[in-house]
Amino acid sequence: MPSAASSEAPSEASTAPWDVHRLPRADGKTFLVTGGNAGIGYFVAEQLAGTGATVVLGSRDADKADAAATSIRSRVPDARVRHIRLDLADLASLKASAEALRSDRLDAVVHNAGVKFDQPDRRETGDGHEAMFGINHLGHFALTHWLAPLLAAAPEGRVVTTGSFAATSERLDLDDLESTRDYRPDRTYGRSKLAQMLFGFELDRRLRTGGSTVRSVVTHPGGALDSLTPPRPPLHAPTTGERLRGLPAGILVQGKEAAAWPAVRAVLDPSVTGGQLWAPRIFGLRGPPGSGPSAVIWRTRRSRPACGRRAAT
Ligand SMILES: NC(=O)c1ccc[n+]([C@@H]2O[C@H](COP(=O)([O-])OP(=O)(O)OC[C@H]3O[C@@H](n4cnc5c(N)ncnc54)[C@H](OP(=O)(O)O)[C@@H]3O)[C@@H](O)[C@H]2O)c1
Repeated sequence: MPSAASSEAPSEASTAPWDVHRLPRADGKTFLVTGGNAGIGYFVAEQLAGTGATVVLGSRDADKADAAATSIRSRVPDARVRHIRLDLADLASLKASAEALRSDRLDAVVHNAGVKFDQPDRRETGDGHEAMFGINHLGHFALTHWLAPLLAAAPEGRVVTTGSFAATSERLDLDDLESTRDYRPDRTYGRSKLAQMLFGFELDRRLRTGGSTVRSVVTHPGGALDSLTPPRPPLHAPTTGERLRGLPAGILVQGKEAAAWPAVRAVLDPSVTGGQLWAPRIFGLRGPPGSGPSAVIWRTRRSRPACGRRAAT
């Protein structure tokens, strides 16, 4: 694999020249963003569309995807944006989603889509998996499988997986990955994000071992609130009151436009190497993306051997 830099010692210095508002051109490339119709994924798609690349919105709702594509085109002249149907809750449908790309190569996929339920009742996908684990982790895991040939056909394909700070305080229960016992929504969400992050790191290790040119990078968007997010009507149209009420939180966290920056950098920056974690530089919660030894990185890495030890027993 050409990207031989170590994943264990990412450098803050490598982030210095990156300007989130002056992205490199990516004409001729194709990027898929899961959940590109809303939230952080929308802004990832909007920012990537500004580079000249073709951006594909992976969405389970064609009307929402159309609205997102219209919004992107209104802000990015000559944007190349289209939609494929993607439902991560339906594992059997994902092969068709990959085929619907109608492309012989894919330069990057951003595994952004995700669900977080607050209700105390455990939910399952139609496939019978706990819904957060099934959608956030298993769906993206299966999608990666079907996209693998397209990513390998790109000169330097990238898999960008969206983690979360919520993962850092969790451990996987390898005897009960789908929380059939003692379900707690926050814990199950955190575990689903931990599973995604571990997948992203392990995928990179296996890609390197196999001599692949594909890189796998993990990102954390920070704390992202709708109330701090710039409007994109009709997708997102906060009231003045909602925006004013959200302002104090801006000291600690950010909006979803800024939360898109780590994933966008992971897709575009040639200095990003596989196995890295990119997150907002200010306490892992807000600000421009960096890959330095922030708390989120240290704590997530600390949880990896714990999982591995459990697996070995
Ligand atoms: N916001 C934060 O503070 C924060 C912090 C850490 C990590 N994250 C992670 O960042 C990612 C985006 O978060 P967000 O705040 O932007 O969330 P969001 O606004 O709720 O958007 C979630 C996206 O996922 C899509 N989605 C949900 N279920 C799906 C399915 N079964 N198949 C395909 N797409 C599906 C949604 O589509 P529909 O519109 O059809 O529902 C939507 O496009 C998530 O992975 C989340 O875990 C967020």
